[in-house]
Amino acid sequence: MPSRPDLPALALLTCLSLASCTEDPVPSDSDTDTTGDDTSTTGTTGADESTGADYPSLDERPCPEDSILTAENFGAPFMLTHCTGCHHVALKEGERAGAPLGIDFESLKKVRAQADRIWARAADQNATMPPVGPPSADERARLGEWLACGAPTAAEL
Ligand code: HEC
Repeated sequence: MPSRPDLPALALLTCLSLASCTEDPVPSDSDTDTTGDDTSTTGTTGADESTGADYPSLDERPCPEDSILTAENFGAPFMLTHCTGCHHVALKEGERAGAPLGIDFESLKKVRAQADRIWARAADQNATMPPVGPPSADERARLGEWLACGAPTAAEL
């Protein structure tokens, strides 16, 4: 999407100058709660803004103007950790745990070209990929944000 305006760059400058940016760039692994089954399936608690998001599509998923997520600080490590163990061009049939041939995410170009698909399976409220052990809601929200912002690199932010 080359038509994207330079808003993120401006937003980053604004962000740096305000000293009040609350966006946390560091994934906090420590608060991953693995002790209890979450029996609430309605998700209507409301107070926590990191969980309630339920967007109809990637197109309608907003890109926060102050987003600081880049391929370097988020996208590439996320895909490496959660996806390319099965979705990598170097993996032959039989080595990819059933991941369809040709559905690969080892490059930024491929990730951008398949952003809708990735979002629909792994971002925001969507948690059907990876098949086992989906990323935390917080990580999925970050994936949604990064994709909605056009999956920028640091140079493009
Ligand atoms: C353990 C292996 C494994 C991992 C890790 C994995 N996948 Fe998959 N993926 C599969 C399998 C198997 C399928 C085919 C079955 C299905 O669609 O549910 C699939 C299918 C898909 C599809 C559907 C392809 C299509 O035809 O549209 C997408 C999109 C996808 N995965 C994205 C992801 C993303 C994004 C991640 C990382 C967050 C991921 N996968 C991690 C195994 C994996």
